Amino acid sequence: MTQALAIILAAGKGTRMKSALPKVLHRIAGAPMLAHVMSVVAGAGLKRQSLVESPGMEEVGEVARGIEPKIEVFVQAEQLGTADAVKAAGRAYERFEGPVLVLYGDTPLLRPHTVKAVLAEIDAGADLVVIGFEAKDPTSYGRLLFDKTGALCGIREEKDASDAERALTLCNSGIMAFRSSKTLAGLLARIGNDNAKGEFYLTDAVALARGDELTARVVLADTEEVLGVNSRAELAAAEAVMQHRLRSAVMENGATLVAPETVFLSYDTKIGKDVLIEPHVVIGPGVTIDDGVSIGSFCYIEAAEIGKGAMLGPFARLRPGATLGKSAKIGNFVEIKKSEIGEGAKVNHLTYIGDASIGARANVGAGTVICNYDGFAKHRTEIGAGAFIGSNSSLVAPVKIGDGAYIGSGSVITKDVPADALALSRTPQDERPGWAAKVRARRARDKSK
Ligand code: UD1
Ligand code: CA
Repeated sequence: MTQALAIILAAGKGTRMKSALPKVLHRIAGAPMLAHVMSVVAGAGLKRQSLVESPGMEEVGEVARGIEPKIEVFVQAEQLGTADAVKAAGRAYERFEGPVLVLYGDTPLLRPHTVKAVLAEIDAGADLVVIGFEAKDPTSYGRLLFDKTGALCGIREEKDASDAERALTLCNSGIMAFRSSKTLAGLLARIGNDNAKGEFYLTDAVALARGDELTARVVLADTEEVLGVNSRAELAAAEAVMQHRLRSAVMENGATLVAPETVFLSYDTKIGKDVLIEPHVVIGPGVTIDDGVSIGSFCYIEAAEIGKGAMLGPFARLRPGATLGKSAKIGNFVEIKKSEIGEGAKVNHLTYIGDASIGARANVGAGTVICNYDGFAKHRTEIGAGAFIGSNSSLVAPVKIGDGAYIGSGSVITKDVPADALALSRTPQDERPGWAAKVRARRARDKSK
């Protein structure tokens, strides 16, 4: 297939989001909408991307460059419409001879194979291709117009449509491809703004192409694939579609989700085979889950790695940098941050582990707290292989507990403990034989008086 240039439009005001954040940076499954669009473009094999942003929204370009350093970013000085936005990227397509694909940054659910189908139509001889879809509610979309022979001959925007045109339900997704940059430039030069919104509509390119006796074709996509996000409600609708796709993919790969609709995944979640995920689990970006892991209900996991056969939860929280070794066990109300838990180690109840490494088969008792922060800086804690940390201990970092060492329950450990030693730091037990019985007897006497 011929190499094409992609132009992603993202200069619109996005006013209906009512947000200080540019619309295309709102996230779906943990990644900005723009990142989804860019990944579709890359996934369809397009190597050249450019982006059109608006003045004062430079964060958009920065995010794009963070994903694809070679992307060319252009600024559309004034938001005069989609045709004007494409023109802003003139320097990119004027230097380019092949096909040009125009996409919107607010259409994040598109799939690479649909983009490939569009480019295949160009390869097969079309001069202009539009991705169309059947809308349940076509309001706010441009309607596709066909001539008597069934050929695409124009697109009518909602505000300019007659009643008969408004009744049409086959709509423009906004994604369009042009045979060459020359075709595109030739059409753009003649697009005016004599319409209800006073904008330069890219969609007018279709009628102009027909006037030039060029061939315009439609590639159909599923409605949900071309959902445009203009409001928070549409953002949530797009999230739901994306979650459905992600859940289906992990189940397809051999994971069991007991109640899939209650498990939330991220765009980059990696889940192995025979993984069991109970209801109500949230998985943020950067998570890898190896084969045979089981995750109990109500776990919250971000940027963490979970090794083969490990068990987590219910009610556990893994924060960025948590790494669980093979068959490790992390129980309820345990929080782990930036720490490595060794193979077969157990941290079963009510514990905070931060900036630490825990050796293989070590056992961390209930209520252990690693005091990693002294109010100024974070410090590391190392617990050796096979060590035993008694319940309700505090380990004040920086501190090292040697292999096989034993910490008595309730200790506050501030100094390194050598391998195989016992360390205790608590007040010796004070015992008064018979004290309780004496007190009870006295109270009983006082009452009977
Ligand atoms: C557009 C299409 C409509 C289609 C619909 C699909 C036009 C004239 N209409 O309408 O046929 O059914 O999308 O969702 O193209 N943008 C700029 N600069 C501008 C204006 C827009 O970069 O000056 C960008 C926006 O950021 C957005 C995209 O272009 O990514 C579409 O703009 P929007 O205003 O949302 O167009 P719609 O009215 O939805
Ligand atoms: Ca839109």
